[in-house]
Amino acid sequence: MEISSFFVFFVLLLVHCLMASTAVAVRTNITTDQSALLALKDHITDDPYKTLASNWSSSTSVCNWIGITCGAKHHRVTALNLSHMGLSGTIAPQVGKLTFLSHLSFRNNNFHGSLPNELASLRRLEVVSFGLNNFSGMLPSWFGFLPKLQVLYAYTNSFEGTVPESLGNILSLKVLHLGENKLSGRIPKSLGNCTYLEIIHLDDNNFTDGTTVAIKVFNLNIEGGFKSFEAECDVLCSIRHRNLVKIISCCSSIDFKALVLEYIPKGSLRKWLYSHSHFLDMLERLSMMIDVASSLEYLHHGCPLPVVHCDLKPSNILLNKDMVALVSDFGISKFLGNEDSMTQTMTLATIGYMAPEYGSQGIISTRGDVYSYGILLMETFTRKNPTDDMFVGEMSLRGWVRQSLPHSVIEVIDSSLLKRGEENFNAKLDCMLSIMQLAITCSTEAPEERSNMRDVVTTLKKIKLKFLKDVGED
Ligand SMILES: *[C@@H]1O[C@H](CO)[C@@H](O)[C@H](O)[C@H]1NC(C)=O
Ligand SMILES: *[C@@H]1O[C@H](CO)[C@@H](O)[C@H](O)[C@H]1NC(C)=O
Ligand SMILES: *[C@@H]1O[C@H](CO)[C@@H](O)[C@H](O)[C@H]1NC(C)=O
Ligand SMILES: *[C@@H]1O[C@H](CO)[C@@H](O)[C@H](O)[C@H]1NC(C)=O
Ligand SMILES: *[C@@H]1O[C@H](CO)[C@@H](O)[C@H](O)[C@H]1NC(C)=O
Ligand SMILES: *[C@@H]1O[C@H](CO)[C@@H](O)[C@H](O)[C@H]1NC(C)=O
Repeated sequence: MEISSFFVFFVLLLVHCLMASTAVAVRTNITTDQSALLALKDHITDDPYKTLASNWSSSTSVCNWIGITCGAKHHRVTALNLSHMGLSGTIAPQVGKLTFLSHLSFRNNNFHGSLPNELASLRRLEVVSFGLNNFSGMLPSWFGFLPKLQVLYAYTNSFEGTVPESLGNILSLKVLHLGENKLSGRIPKSLGNCTYLEIIHLDDNNFTDGTTVAIKVFNLNIEGGFKSFEAECDVLCSIRHRNLVKIISCCSSIDFKALVLEYIPKGSLRKWLYSHSHFLDMLERLSMMIDVASSLEYLHHGCPLPVVHCDLKPSNILLNKDMVALVSDFGISKFLGNEDSMTQTMTLATIGYMAPEYGSQGIISTRGDVYSYGILLMETFTRKNPTDDMFVGEMSLRGWVRQSLPHSVIEVIDSSLLKRGEENFNAKLDCMLSIMQLAITCSTEAPEERSNMRDVVTTLKKIKLKFLKDVGED
């Protein structure tokens, strides 16, 4: 009796499911999309700019609603873009009925709550952004079963739990940004199967690997075959210095190469120099420049094989919570074997910081880093980027600094660092002059006339000591 009633129930359930699925397959049309969107609107509790209030009205076609794009072929909603509208609320499960959707963005609003499982039906999704909201709950594993997904942004939310193993299923995935959430556990190895992955950010989470991490994935098409990646990785992983961003591990499969890096919380020197909400005083900048010089001294003179960084610039210098500067981004660094220089055909460094012999002939040597370091010194204390609009034609950052020496160095120094008549003016001026002279010596045109990093470190430490003595802090 019990068994047969269960059986009847089961059959009824089955019939019901079949009917439901055939009904969905046959009957959905633009009206389905309209009711789904109206349900979404109903779940929005605050619409401060009244963006949707009158615009999303049943009296006009869905396809004319703001944020909606319809496809020409099926006349169905293919894109839903509600980015940056200040909306609050949760995501209605009915959004899962928008089965023709390929682009979905809720970026930069105040949505909260967890993502409804109904969204798993959106099998045509290619680009999805939930970034910059306050979504919570687990990061759904159904993302891993969206066969066309290329871009997934879920950064800056309150997602928790582990990164679903299933993300490794999405072979089409190019961009994965899950930074600034509360994700924990281990980073799944399955991500190594996403061979088209170009950008992955997992920083600012709570993974068990100890530190929060940043990951750099090499785009093999652009960066031209890292054949010796694994060998280089071993060496990179063995490099340890207090002023170098630690490489925690390397991931490598045939098409996928990534470095897992220690995450450095305070952002880059570039941000600190140019943003108006930050300020670094002279001593802080000098200490950071000593940090950077020490790391280069180690790379050039203290490693088993000399390492040339090749791309030194303010955005590659990161500040930790104690405002110690760390050099990052070894993406294009090179190991020198027994030679003291090598030649490379493809130039990957950055205009403005790149030594002339590297730019014109592809010659890589430690002296190229010394040149970039000289430019970096000038930029740090003048707050002028070498590619600034004022440097056109014959006039370069170096030329501009050089012609100011020695008597008008005050003209080129960042005006917030040095003002006539202020306390310790002479000590500061003297310090700036010595640093700019050092910067000029580092960046001479002829590589053999440049300083080396050992001497640079020694000189800078002397400059700092003298400065402290002059201002009576010694
Ligand atoms: C959509 O289908 C329903 C029946 O399921 C029908 O009543 C409605 O008129 C259709 N809408 C359009 C725009 O074709
Ligand atoms: C809704 O917004 C769209 C896009 O801004 C606009 O083209 C359309 O006319 C608006 N519709 C109504 C009814 O306000
Ligand atoms: C969504 O709209 C914003 C602003 O209108 C635009 O900047 C953004 O590129 C759009 N995103 C997508 C995925 O179309
Ligand atoms: C985000 O959501 C979490 C709970 O999920 C809550 O504790 C937190 O206060 C929210 N943050 C903001 C900024 O609203
Ligand atoms: C990657 O894919 C291969 C073949 O599809 C599978 O055998 C392997 O388990 C996957 N690796 C991970 C770590 O998921
Ligand atoms: C990070 O995870 C640890 C356990 O692994 C937990 O004790 C800690 O509270 C978590 N931190 C945050 C900020 O969630």
